[in-house]
Amino acid sequence: MKGIILAGGNGTRLRPLTLVTNKHLLPVYNKPMIYYPLETLTAMGLKDILIVSGREHAGHFLHLLGSGKDFGVRLSYEVQEEAGGIAEALGLAEDFTDGGKLAVILGDNIFEGHQQIIKAAKDFAAQEKGAKIMLKEVLDAERFGVAEVSGGKIIGIEEKPKHPKSNLIITGLYFYDKHVFDIIRTLRPSARGELEITDVNNAYIAEGIMTFEIVTGEWTDAGTFESLLKASNLVAKRKASQS
Ligand code: G1P
Repeated sequence: MKGIILAGGNGTRLRPLTLVTNKHLLPVYNKPMIYYPLETLTAMGLKDILIVSGREHAGHFLHLLGSGKDFGVRLSYEVQEEAGGIAEALGLAEDFTDGGKLAVILGDNIFEGHQQIIKAAKDFAAQEKGAKIMLKEVLDAERFGVAEVSGGKIIGIEEKPKHPKSNLIITGLYFYDKHVFDIIRTLRPSARGELEITDVNNAYIAEGIMTFEIVTGEWTDAGTFESLLKASNLVAKRKASQS
């Protein structure tokens, strides 16, 4: 299984912090944000990782992370010419994945504690086909993709609904088989002009080949001022408990 970190987008919710740099290079406590998703993928034992970023800042990622040698992995880079959505960025990874399974993580997702995720990756490696997503219970579900679960099965996802049907949201860690690229080819831009990862996931759900797990450890994204601060606090708290 190969890994993909999606680190594009304009980071508009973090302006002016993102006027001259990319969101995923901003600090989360004592490291650049992208280190955390990179550590999540390496914890799963993945050795081949692709970073997809926008044209303006692609060179900065290369400068920061290089070949991946310092992390014990081999890094590749791909450029998304314009911010056309998470699913569009993922579509650029088809050649890289070479027909195998993939673990995809959004560059602003911080998972504390990796035991459960390592197990989820193993389970997905053994899953015959389809996809797997990681859910998390939150208080502000309307900010995310929200799952509707019935009888232990996920029956649909709504992207940033005004009236969430549950408090279970879709985190930015996804596992897919190669069928994901066929699905992406069928997508049309959403109202915000992007190819949505939620449409990809709903296609797998419609085919009945989506599994899920609820994350029990701490998790946050870091794409707003509040969540960026929360992310730093999460990491600082863990560091303090370890020392
Ligand atoms: C994206 C996805 C959303 C998901 C979230 C997790 O939203 O579209 O479904 O819940 O990531 O971080 P974004 O924050 O990029 O708008």
